[in-house]
Amino acid sequence: MLSIAVFLSLLIILVSGLKELKVNPGQDAPLQCQGPRDAEITLLEWNRADLKSDDYVFMYRNQRPYESYQHVSFKGRVDLMDPSMKDGNVSVTLRNVRINDTGTYKCQITTKETESVVHECSINLTVTTSDKHTKESQTESKDGGERVKCLSVIILVLSVFIVLITDIM
Ligand SMILES: *[C@@H]1O[C@H](CO)[C@@H](O)[C@H](O)[C@H]1NC(C)=O
Ligand SMILES: *[C@@H]1O[C@H](CO)[C@@H](O)[C@H](O)[C@H]1NC(C)=O
Ligand SMILES: *[C@@H]1O[C@H](CO)[C@@H](O)[C@H](O)[C@H]1NC(C)=O
Repeated sequence: MLSIAVFLSLLIILVSGLKELKVNPGQDAPLQCQGPRDAEITLLEWNRADLKSDDYVFMYRNQRPYESYQHVSFKGRVDLMDPSMKDGNVSVTLRNVRINDTGTYKCQITTKETESVVHECSINLTVTTSDKHTKESQTESKDGGERVKCLSVIILVLSVFIVLITDIM
């Protein structure tokens, strides 16, 4: 009983933690990624997994973005939200999205200390004209995710409580 509840709660937390983003064409897409807080980031690579070319969505090395390695369709449309990447915030904004920007965006972070990839983010972006996917429904679904997490914690605590009570009786 307890193990099933724990398993279900973990599953719900896991599923609601997966990053999915829906925006309308012409809007800006916030591609959020939180890297290590106290490390010097030497290389930051944002890729589109399904894009055949090796070009980047966004690439940052030696303290500056490299536009020359950027895929032509992303040139001039991607910027760091926080250019100083304070506290490991490597989020970027993809501006003026088009239908064909739909895809899986991956972010890889390399730090000076390790000289290898230490952190990865993955975000599924869907660009669609469907009316349901306005900015409002985006925030709603985020709140929904929080609610689901909250609910699963309550289920977990309740089932621990029930198991304890049954043990005592
Ligand atoms: C998306 O479509 C635009 C034209 O509407 C084109 O310039 C661009 O290269 C396309 N991007 C990709 C990743 O195919
Ligand atoms: C990163 O910084 C931007 C701009 O200050 C902010 O809007 C965003 O919420 C931050 N993201 C994270 C993950 O802290
Ligand atoms: C994101 O897209 C990839 C490739 O299409 C898919 O395998 C994965 O399950 C998707 N993730 C989510 C959270 O939808």
